[in-house]
Amino acid sequence: MRKIKIHKPDDWHLHLRDGDLLKLVLPHTVKDFGRALIMPNLVPPVITTSDAESYRREIMDALDKDIDFQPFMTLYLTEDTDPRDVEDGIAKGVVKAVKLYPAGATTNSSSGVRDFSKINETLAILSTNNVPLCVHGEVVDGHVDIFDRETEFIQRVLIPIHKDFPELKIVLEHITTQDAIDFVLNTPDNIAATITVHHLVINRNHLFKSGIRPHYFCLPIAKREVHRQSLVKAATSGNANFFLGTDSAPHTIGTKESACGCAGIFTAPVAMAILAHVFENEDALDKLEGFTSLSGAEFYGVAPNQSFLTLRKEKAPIKFPASIAENELEVSIFDPEFDLNWKVID
Ligand code: DOR
Ligand code: ZN
Repeated sequence: MRKIKIHKPDDWHLHLRDGDLLKLVLPHTVKDFGRALIMPNLVPPVITTSDAESYRREIMDALDKDIDFQPFMTLYLTEDTDPRDVEDGIAKGVVKAVKLYPAGATTNSSSGVRDFSKINETLAILSTNNVPLCVHGEVVDGHVDIFDRETEFIQRVLIPIHKDFPELKIVLEHITTQDAIDFVLNTPDNIAATITVHHLVINRNHLFKSGIRPHYFCLPIAKREVHRQSLVKAATSGNANFFLGTDSAPHTIGTKESACGCAGIFTAPVAMAILAHVFENEDALDKLEGFTSLSGAEFYGVAPNQSFLTLRKEKAPIKFPASIAENELEVSIFDPEFDLNWKVID
């Protein structure tokens, strides 16, 4: 197959940042994606419905007027979140999901949750309203090996939450392990997972190939090759409980190439080209549309996008730039280290 036409994809996990960085990265998502679930870990975070309304306005103002793109907003859950405000945000149609960051788990997560018993009232509201809880699934204890943090979180936090709120829709975000896949496979359909582009193509060796590679550092950290292979199988299986959330997370080059480099990989410009490559390799191009454009929409209760995206396989590799830049800001684009021949043509 040299050409494939699919409903326009949605990105169910995206970091757009704010200010000048937002303006720099936004065009790279809206060219291929009709909608995206926008992560709330700004500084300061998007905690209230009013914060989400202002952030949504900033995104809409940064968009070219002729672009058809819809940001879906999330709230950053804290121990002090007012459940009434969450309820209002849902009723107003502002809040599409609530994001749970364990405090200290990742970028700008210090206002996240330490004591999970403090969020029960909000979880009850989400459950009643059929609104998903999106979860960064890693424990933060220093004594737990960084490669085991997802598995430990599932056992220690996620299974108890699911037991207490069996009807609650949960999205285990950016999964990286066989354990996370098994959790989704062994729970009802109100439990789903997003899979990123980068976790489909890198394993933990990429982080240390001939030196330390900060541009492959993200959280959850990439795991062993067997886990990567399992993620590819899950993504290309056609199981609707696995869908795309790129976790495209731009940081400036200076903040990544540092003694304490930030976690996050910017994949938006190459996401669809890489996915077509991965799905073609698995002989599963017929499953690409489900993964990128149908399953997530169904989980979040929205119709697929009305518009379409066409990708074509070119004879010569597509040349993507190594970075994008504007004034002082420069962000590296994820390099999968293999040729990309699939091009979005329409
Ligand atoms: O690698 C990551 N980057 N993982 C996250 O959970 C957050 C993200 C970011 O905001 O940079
Ligand atoms: Zn993220």
